Amino acid sequence: MSPHRHRYGTTGDSTTAERHPHMTEPITGGRAAADADWWRQAVVYQIYPRSFADANGDGIGDLPGITSRAGYLADLGVDAVWLSPFYPSALADGGYDVDDYRDVDPRLGSLDDFDVMIKALHDKGIKLIVDIVPNHSSNRHEWFRQALAAPKGSPERDRYVFRDGLGERGELPPADWTSMFGGPAWTPVGDGQWYLHLFAIEQPDFNWRNEEVRADFLTTLRFWSDRGVDGFRVDVAHALAKHLPDDLPSETELAAMDKATGTHLLWDRDEVHDIYADWRRVFDEYDPPRIAVAEAWVNPPWRRARYASAEGLGQAFNFDLLEADFDAGAFRRIITDNLEQAADSGSSTTWVFSNHDVIRHATRYGLPPNGDQPRRSGRAWLLSGGAEPALDAAAGLRRARAATLLMLALPGSAYLYQGEELGLGEVADIPAQDRQDPTFFRSPGVDVGRDGCRVPIPWTTGGDSFGFGDDGAHLPQPEWFGGLSVEAQEGDPASTLALYRDALALRRELQTTEALDWAPSGPEVLHVKRAGGWEAVANFGAGPAPLPEGEVLLASGPVEGGELPPETTVWLRTTA
Ligand code: NOJ
Repeated sequence: MSPHRHRYGTTGDSTTAERHPHMTEPITGGRAAADADWWRQAVVYQIYPRSFADANGDGIGDLPGITSRAGYLADLGVDAVWLSPFYPSALADGGYDVDDYRDVDPRLGSLDDFDVMIKALHDKGIKLIVDIVPNHSSNRHEWFRQALAAPKGSPERDRYVFRDGLGERGELPPADWTSMFGGPAWTPVGDGQWYLHLFAIEQPDFNWRNEEVRADFLTTLRFWSDRGVDGFRVDVAHALAKHLPDDLPSETELAAMDKATGTHLLWDRDEVHDIYADWRRVFDEYDPPRIAVAEAWVNPPWRRARYASAEGLGQAFNFDLLEADFDAGAFRRIITDNLEQAADSGSSTTWVFSNHDVIRHATRYGLPPNGDQPRRSGRAWLLSGGAEPALDAAAGLRRARAATLLMLALPGSAYLYQGEELGLGEVADIPAQDRQDPTFFRSPGVDVGRDGCRVPIPWTTGGDSFGFGDDGAHLPQPEWFGGLSVEAQEGDPASTLALYRDALALRRELQTTEALDWAPSGPEVLHVKRAGGWEAVANFGAGPAPLPEGEVLLASGPVEGGELPPETTVWLRTTA
């Protein structure tokens, strides 16, 4: 057990805590919390299981690998793990193509291994959130096989979204829609009918008007809740409810439809919340209630509130920092807006810089701004195999550390992605034959996909796959991974790993309320004050800034001479 567990308890009786981020009453969120509000301030660590730790030496990470690293996660100081899909899957989309929602991919282990893993995490005080993928199954799912074998108009086909094709024999697609991964969104099945897949061909969309679909997901939620999972991350939560009229609009017409009114045919329809009201009733059957966080890329941002409401999923991802440049004004606006939105919904917000879908932030921040778009998406750099534009890796890491230390001082949940605690950068030069992401294959020359942030974690400075497993890694690891491995950073107080460990331990000790105030600062500096004299000051500028009075508790880079260096964040304790 980590020594921090005893030192850093939670405060207060959470049952008295209201759901408002600006309040000053006690909150929960520490590892010892076993109550309904544990998630509000939790640090959640995302594990992409195939790339975390490989216990059986087949090149693919697995559940026993996670079990073997439970001590590492406890030492890091996270409150919960979010586990990306581990279900049986052909991996057409990294596991987001699920064959069976109530089993474990044999390459990753078994249900028994799952039980051992969850016990190991719970024994360390770490909760477990599993990914649930309700918009689509895989094309190998039993129901989709049945749908293909059954005739048009059958109950088996009604579980998915089938349509007659156009043309005399249905040889033309029902509409010219493009899937999210590029290429057509409708695929023919050979009898004049076509099925809808908003993502890959192997991911047929469910028909959520079908009662069997609705009931089956409630069974799945209970299945994992009964096995002890503490919550769910809901994939593409805003796509489930669809309304397809007899005359389908064209791609252009679809794109022109208003997404802000809850009436778009595909995305963020108001009736999607009826589904989550049913889910909430299931979550509330458990004690403490199971939690959920929506992956809902909705716009305008206030539309997140219903996903995050207590009658719905309870929390929704805010990806605003992940999309923002390293810029004080942008950060300030995003922080203010999201704390307000969370207050409106009664939820707490969620901060994210990196996940399995985007270029890692240590790299993103090392790339020049994207012309007239402020966001450093890294797309051009990835397409060039990491050659152009020039990457300033040192600046990227410096900014990533500063941004993360500021983020960890904010109220709300902090979602970390495996490897960011090592300062890992994106791998750009993966050979075409090794790539796995469907985006790479479906949009050649436009997108190289997301494999570069999914490269297996380096645990040791050398050896086979840098300690990931005994027999290589399913995506090639670059030589520079060794220098960023856990082994290389262990014992180095200036390392990124030490920064994360120190920050999480201190956060557990210092964070007693959800209140946040802004202190006056120059335009390049953000200065936030939390209760009990905890302050964070981030200098986004290229020159030094004044260092406010106080005891420096932690800094994202060297601080000397009473100044706050460029692109650096410090945590201070003041007596005020
Ligand atoms: C969002 C997931 O994060 C992403 O990885 C996946 O490809 C799509 N949803 C489709 O399931």
